[in-house]
Amino acid sequence: MRKPFVAGNWKMNTNSQSSLSLAEGIVSELKQLGTDRLDIAICPPFVYLQQVAKAVSASNVALGAQDVYYQADGAFTGQISCQMLKNIGCMYVIIGHSEKRHVIGEKDDLINKKLTAAINSGLLPIFCVGELLEEREAGKTETVVTRQIENGLAGLELEKVSAITIAYEPVWAIGTGKTATSGQAEEVHQMIRALIEKMYGKELAEDIRIQYGGSVKPTNAAELMAEEDVDGLLVGGASLKKDDFVAIIKASWRAK
Ligand code: PGA
Repeated sequence: MRKPFVAGNWKMNTNSQSSLSLAEGIVSELKQLGTDRLDIAICPPFVYLQQVAKAVSASNVALGAQDVYYQADGAFTGQISCQMLKNIGCMYVIIGHSEKRHVIGEKDDLINKKLTAAINSGLLPIFCVGELLEEREAGKTETVVTRQIENGLAGLELEKVSAITIAYEPVWAIGTGKTATSGQAEEVHQMIRALIEKMYGKELAEDIRIQYGGSVKPTNAAELMAEEDVDGLLVGGASLKKDDFVAIIKASWRAK
């Protein structure tokens, strides 16, 4: 049984005050919800992690970071290490997000190093994959997602990969208001699960969680989550609004 997992990716949003009040609001609204059936995480910008860590401590909301660097320490200006994230209470880290890939220019080999370092340090990565609109239109979704997964997981053994949640985020659906239909999401999720089975065997394929991300809203969360292979959601814009994020979590909780 895969435990559903909903995470909020705040991206480069909020400020010192609003990050704290958003985190406190989410914690307070969700405190009645048991974590036995659903995992929840929020991923604020690096500079607010520490104060948000305090706000979510002893709650059912876990903390995640939006990125990490693979080196342990040293002369890497501007980078943040796995141990730094662990040190302040992060459990999850988003790796390979499409904005990192397509805006900042991050490539599969760097993503692979980050995944490896994160798992080795005990962080739980949310590994993002997804095709561009022109790739989908050219019928290349499977080729692109397969390449991202094979290269991203290169050299990682089964036990390590079991720490990962995969997030399928079609780039054309991120921040555009265009959600993939639940059928389109399910189709790619099934393909990803079949690929994991080919690479690592049936047991891991059945256990690995695959989130959908891209314009998730309170109005489409239940339908997406009703799909057999959609095990959770990675929520961007709607995770910045307390009521929307809480509604998405509750809808997900009910859907499974
Ligand atoms: P969105 O972002 O929900 O704003 O489309 C999702 C994501 O990029 O993780």
